[in-house]
This record gives sequence, structure tokens and C-alpha cells, in this order.
Amino acid sequence: MHKLILILFVGALLHAEDADNGKKLYTTVGCYECHGRVGQGGSAGPRLAPRPVPLQALVAYVRHPSGAMPPYTSKLVTDAQLVDIHAFLASIPPPAKDIPLLNQ
Ligand code: HEC
Repeated sequence: MHKLILILFVGALLHAEDADNGKKLYTTVGCYECHGRVGQGGSAGPRLAPRPVPLQALVAYVRHPSGAMPPYTSKLVTDAQLVDIHAFLASIPPPAKDIPLLNQ
């Protein structure tokens, strides 16, 4: 686990996160098929955004899922690409129904 955190830390230093690239990757590697176009969740996967799990938790889950999700090895999607996918998920705003001011 320490090794994973170190790799992510060094990876993040070398590679500034890029939410736009993450958005493209989220589609091309197929996350959207189960988790919905904006991570809202669907029939085949739970909601990922807004407010995604921390980066380390996302990477750990994608590499070693414990349920119905298929594992993605680093050959299929690199740690740097997961940094971008996480940045995309973190950039998704909450739906209007979650904004108290708009629901008075
Ligand atoms: C074939 C469907 C499918 C695909 C494709 C898929 N997932 Fe999942 N994912 C799931 C399901 C179902 C779960 C719920 C737990 C389980 O059954 O594994 C899940 C759980 C997760 C979780 C844990 C959420 C939490 O709240 O703990 C994360 C993070 C996640 N997926 C990220 C991704 C990312 C990033 C991708 C693309 C690289 C992806 N998933 C692709 C089906 C999928």
C-alpha cells in the first residue's frame, strides 16, 4: 500500500492532473458504460460523482475490485490515466437538486 501511495505521489508530480483528458479516458476505457456519462451511476454500476472517493481508494478499487466490476490492470489504464479520470470525476458539479438555495 505504501508503494502504491508513493507511485501515485511521484506520478502526480511528474504528471499534472488533467480533467479534460480524464473525461475522454473515462469514455474510451469504458467506465461510463456502467457508471454513467457523468459518473451518476446506472443499472450496471454505482454513482462515482460528484464527490468521488479519494484517488488512492479509486486506484485500489479499479486494480482489485471485490464485486461485479472487472479489474483494470496498469496495461489497460495507467496510474497517470487514473489520476486524470479522478480529476474529471472530482470536477463534476452536483445536480441542481443538491443545491439547497435552489430547493426552497
Ligand atoms: C462492467 C461494469 C463496470 C465498468 C466497465 C467499470 N465499473 Fe466501476 N464498478 C462497477 C460495479 C458493479 C461497482 C460496485 C462494486 C462491485 O460490484 O464491484 C463498481 C465500483 C467502482 C468503484 C468503487 C466505488 C465506491 O463507492 O467504493 C470505483 C471507484 C469504480 N468502480 C471506478 C471505476 C472506473 C474508474 C472505471 C473505468 C476505469 C470503472 N469503474 C469501470 C462496475 C463497473
